[in-house]
Amino acid sequence: MAAYSDLVVDHFEHPRNAGEIASPDGEATVSNPVCGDRMRVTIRVAAGKVVEVRWQTRGCPPAIATSSFASELVCGWPLERVDQLTREEIADGLGGLPRDKVHCSVLAADALRGAVGDYRRRQRGGSP
Ligand code: FES
Repeated sequence: MAAYSDLVVDHFEHPRNAGEIASPDGEATVSNPVCGDRMRVTIRVAAGKVVEVRWQTRGCPPAIATSSFASELVCGWPLERVDQLTREEIADGLGGLPRDKVHCSVLAADALRGAVGDYRRRQRGGSP
């Protein structure tokens, strides 16, 4: 994996926060529009902040690494900050991705924003 930064390799080889929260406050499953890979994310929310993230990703090494990195990145963030999360922010935080792999970071950004949206729907009394 010579084309990847040390941080990408580290998160791929030692993923953080993998798994699933039982009875989460919000959840989302997204597919990458480019390749069809999938990420499911579950979150716990307290006092308007994301306090726990777990994820399950079926995808390429950058998809795994970005899922792991993003799960650590947003822990402690207010929900409004997660709304602004971009795939570039994730890719840059990891020290960059090869150009043909930048799209892989879209999964984590979309899934986390989706889980926050699901949390808000539940707060309004909508179905999960
Ligand atoms: Fe599918 Fe990277 S090739 S997420």
